[in-house]
Amino acid sequence: MDWKSAFEEIEKIKQEAQVEINQAGDLSQQETWRVKYLGRKGRLAVLTSLLANSPAEIRPKLGQAVNELKNYLQALLKKVSKEKKVSRKGKNLSLPGKPAISGLLHPLTLTTRRMVEIFVRMGFGVYTGPDIETDFNNFEALNMPVDHPARDMWDTFYLNQEGTLLLRTHTSPVQIRVMKELTPPFRVVAVGRCFRRDLLDASHSPVFHQLEGLMVGKRISFAHLKGILIYFCQELFGKQTRVNFTPSYFPFTEPSAEVSISCVICRGQGCPTCSRTGWLEILGCGMVHPQVFRKVGYNPDEFSGLAFGIGIERTAMLLHGITDIRFFLQNDLRFLRLFT
Ligand code: DAH
Repeated sequence: MDWKSAFEEIEKIKQEAQVEINQAGDLSQQETWRVKYLGRKGRLAVLTSLLANSPAEIRPKLGQAVNELKNYLQALLKKVSKEKKVSRKGKNLSLPGKPAISGLLHPLTLTTRRMVEIFVRMGFGVYTGPDIETDFNNFEALNMPVDHPARDMWDTFYLNQEGTLLLRTHTSPVQIRVMKELTPPFRVVAVGRCFRRDLLDASHSPVFHQLEGLMVGKRISFAHLKGILIYFCQELFGKQTRVNFTPSYFPFTEPSAEVSISCVICRGQGCPTCSRTGWLEILGCGMVHPQVFRKVGYNPDEFSGLAFGIGIERTAMLLHGITDIRFFLQNDLRFLRLFT
């Protein structure tokens, strides 16, 4: 550009600067505008250096025009930044922000994590299975063919007329899934929701949770089962806890046992929680029945295994002295906030 077109250029700058400042919505866009027009290498600066080289006759006139342009541009900038400030009026920007409300973990989640963590420390892997199961996985493969009387131990929600699909009554069907998927030796736990046709009262719920354990290998013995479960109970309920194994019956284990711990409330003295016996039944267990191994294609002469199942609601109730299972389902924040 030479000094002859400088007057045209000044008019052009005025127009463009006006349009662009109105489009500059925030502070950083205003700054971009300032650099473009008023900056050290901006459009005004170009004109100023041109002025220095212009012929003496037109220099006063051009000088006046450039000066006016400078005032014009500065006024534009001042006006918009003032407007922005005005629009912030009435808002106290130094007020602290609103705290974000974070959620809580459900007591059953917390209990599950504590339980699983103990088994993970003993090298157990963690598995899951679906809530909807086949009759085969939930009963038949667990050594309960159709019409087996032991099926009465679990009042079942069936999902179809043929009775082939159901809501799992325990987490034991995950044993079947795991054995089909893995090759021994392995040790796993599975946690999940279970369903039984029970009426809701202080100690029964048609929906509840279990933790299932399964360890299969060569020469796994009842001593392993005892060692694992005594360690688990003492880690969870305290080192002073006594652990008792009583003979029991489950179709999928032989021998089977029920495990009781010395009462966490009265420490074995006898109280309402333990029905004055000093003991609390907390889980079922046993050595995997050879018939279960056959159902999944394992050779029972080659492998042996241990298994156990623990109710999570009951465990959480004993850990925290909760007397009614319905608290877990009601989502009363006064209850839920008691656990961390
Ligand atoms: N599935 C049993 C129940 O729901 C609990 C159980 C007992 C699981 C013995 C096991 C076991 O794995 O070996 O009552």
